[in-house]
Amino acid sequence: MRRLISIAFLGFFLIFLSGRSWSQSIPPKKTPDLLTQGKKLYEQNCVPCHGSKGDGKGPAGVLLKPPPQDFNIPLNQWTYSKGDLRKAFDVISKGVPNTGMVAWSHLSEQNRWALVYYVTGFASPPTRKK
Ligand code: HEC
Repeated sequence: MRRLISIAFLGFFLIFLSGRSWSQSIPPKKTPDLLTQGKKLYEQNCVPCHGSKGDGKGPAGVLLKPPPQDFNIPLNQWTYSKGDLRKAFDVISKGVPNTGMVAWSHLSEQNRWALVYYVTGFASPPTRKK
């Protein structure tokens, strides 16, 4: 009987733990609709710095130090995220202190994920480092 109770307790504990990790931002599915949404948001908010081609050469971007991230290089060479979409999500959510990159936490999580998918779509395939 005691054994049963402890197993039941363990079960509840695991459900509790997994519930907690689920409450973190769950990446939504990368759908064509979400990408279209990402493109729209990108054009409204990010182009002045990151440029319409994602090369960081927007009209304001060229004036910035440090310059905006060039999204055309392979993902694994991005300064902060290094190919990790969750980290890219974090940069968009929290910004980078003391740079032009501000936090976009006023956008919904869904919108921020749309942006993650859209900007990572600019990246060229990984190359081996020489
Ligand atoms: C005012 C200019 C400015 C605007 C507007 C801007 N950014 Fe940035 N962004 C920057 C700069 C500058 C950096 C690089 C900071 C650094 O290298 O320390 C950066 C870095 C990033 C990175 C980090 C990539 C990495 O992994 O290294 C992401 C992702 C990003 N921006 C996404 C966005 C998105 C999405 C938007 C629009 C919602 C946006 N940015 C709008 C200036 C801007």
